[in-house]
Amino acid sequence: MLTIGVDIGGTKVAAGVVDDNGEIVEHTLRPTAADRPDKVAETVADVVRELSEGRDIEAVGVGAAGFVDESRSVIRFAPNLAWREEPLQKKISGLVGLPVVVENDANAMAWGETRFGAGRGQSHVVCITLGTGIGGGLVFDGKLYRGRWGMGAELGHMQVQPGGRECGCGNIGCWEQYASGNALVKEAKKLAEEHPERAATLLGLAGGKIEGEEVTEAARHGDEVSLEAFRSLADWLGQGMADLAAILDPGCFIVGGGVSRAADLFMDRAREAFAERLTGRGHRPLAEIRLAELGASAGVVGAADLARRR
Ligand code: BGC
Ligand code: NA
Ligand code: ZN
Repeated sequence: MLTIGVDIGGTKVAAGVVDDNGEIVEHTLRPTAADRPDKVAETVADVVRELSEGRDIEAVGVGAAGFVDESRSVIRFAPNLAWREEPLQKKISGLVGLPVVVENDANAMAWGETRFGAGRGQSHVVCITLGTGIGGGLVFDGKLYRGRWGMGAELGHMQVQPGGRECGCGNIGCWEQYASGNALVKEAKKLAEEHPERAATLLGLAGGKIEGEEVTEAARHGDEVSLEAFRSLADWLGQGMADLAAILDPGCFIVGGGVSRAADLFMDRAREAFAERLTGRGHRPLAEIRLAELGASAGVVGAADLARRR
């Protein structure tokens, strides 16, 4: 049986036809206009039409970066995108004439990684995706945990820093302001402004325009400020995982998202920080902290599988 998985990101819509084994049979990409959420359903319908040609497709699963309601239809709120009470499921199914399931993007990734990637065989998985924001997904005993109203596992919006940075959700000091890709860039910019002499490589590479790629490359060349920004991300990540372990006691954390491509620059320190701050340390097993395996396709594969099981 074939289903289509769609991952709606801030800049692109990625989609694939996926089989029962989680293998992507065919894949396609489209740019998205992040400021035009009303156009997203049309883009999704377009990729679904393209991928359905000459194939029998059972259903469509869509992962989107926002708070999805319990009926898996409406994106009620999105901290980093313009969606408010957006009836995405209805719009897409109206356009494509297939059953459609809408799921939070990080939930879809967590499901994909647990079924087919780094979390295979694990019973208690906490998945953390580091990108524009921080996404979270919880899979316990083979079930995706969605909370009472579908909005569980918004891990990025734990408020970790009183009086801290403003978050797109309207609160202050959210975790995603300290350990996401955006946070990495913010921290590097702040440090470079304070100590330009320690950021020569970064400033030289970026020519005034600092983004994640530049911070990563500069860190690999030993740029002090860039290394410090990664160190800060790693500390915040380890600390957050320790707090999550205090509540959830998972056997395994999976760290994914765009920032995880620079895993060599922060994962060891994140594991250390986790071990240093875990409550009850020395008297309990340490959860494994693994890197996601499916990379950019985790969301597509996960959403497709959730559609299959709808
Ligand atoms: C949103 C989540 C989303 C995550 C990753 C967060 O800011 O609140 O819904 O899963 O970003 O895209
Ligand atoms: Na989530
Ligand atoms: Zn927030």
